[in-house]
Formats: sequence, structure tokens, C-alpha cells
Amino acid sequence: VLALASKTDPAWVERVATRLDELLVDHAHCEKKAASTALALVFRYPDHAWLVLPLSRLAREELKHFEQVVEVLRARGLEPRRQAPSPYAGALLSAVRTHEPARLLDTLLCCALIEARSCERMQLLARGLPDPGLRAFYGELLASEARHHATYVELARGIPGHGEAALRRRLAELAAHEARVLARAPADVRMHN
Ligand SMILES: [Fe+2]
Ligand SMILES: [Fe+2]
Repeated sequence: VLALASKTDPAWVERVATRLDELLVDHAHCEKKAASTALALVFRYPDHAWLVLPLSRLAREELKHFEQVVEVLRARGLEPRRQAPSPYAGALLSAVRTHEPARLLDTLLCCALIEARSCERMQLLARGLPDPGLRAFYGELLASEARHHATYVELARGIPGHGEAALRRRLAELAAHEARVLARAPADVRMHN
């Protein structure tokens, strides 16, 4: 499912469920970061017409998610705060090649994998959290993240110069890298740890 090369241990939910406030603060950070990453690509590739509007729309959806998570935080008496950059994303993106169009291809596929992992984690939260309100909240969000995964893969497909088989092969390589990065991540309470 979703091109991921590993499955999250179901015990992850039990661990984060005892420290939900920390998870929600990190989740707000992730939504904001997702919006900012999509917008950064719009700035980096302003002349790629096929990419600009889908990514602009995606950035807006991520900002909407950010606002929704901030509302959940406020209902719990919390506010968003500064989070250290996630070691996960940095390590994942270190596999991006530096020459174009490989750079764009790898960046889009890494974004697709981040969306897929978010979606997988939200699925666990939607099933496993004790609070029915939060279960429903994650149930709604995960559908968007699955769509974002598909959008990034579809955009990668639009880059000229590589066939479907090459795209599949690169996605599988990066998925294996993502699984290794995640296995090495520190066991603190974050969406991607
Ligand atoms: Fe999102
Ligand atoms: Fe997303």
C-alpha cells in the first residue's frame, strides 16, 4: 500500500497515545512544513506549468490542515510552538540527486513517501486512539494525505525523459531508503520517528 517498504509497528500508537500533546504539536509542525515544501517547489520551478497549480492547491490544503490541528491544540489549552527540524525529512531528502531532472524526480518521490508515511500513521491513529473525536479527525485527514501521495507520484510521472519502469524502480529505491531512515530515527514522540 502507498509504495512504503516497511510497516509501522502497531505499538507506536500506544506509545504516542500517552503523550498526545507532544504528538499534536509535532503534527501541527508537519502540516505547516508540508505546505511550505509544496510552495518552495512552486518557487523553484515557476516555469513548470503542469506542476505549479497542483502544488499550489496542495499547499493550501496543508495550510488548512495546519489550521485544523491548531484548533485541536487550542481546545486542549495548547498553542503551536517551534519544533526542531525532523531528522527524518533531512535524512530522507539526502538521497535526492543534484542534477536536473533527477533532482525534481527524487524530490517529488520523497514528498510522495512522506505523504504515504503520514497517511499510514494517521490510519493507526484513526483506529487506535482512545478519544473518538481524534479518531474521526485523523480518519478525515488521512484521505487527503493519500490523495497528496498520488498527486506527487502523478507529478513525477509528468517529468519528461524517463519511462514508467524507471519511475517505479526509483520509487522502490527511495522507499527502501525511507524505511531505513525511519528505523534509525530516535524514539521520541513525533509523526515520523
Ligand atoms: Fe496534511
Ligand atoms: Fe499532505
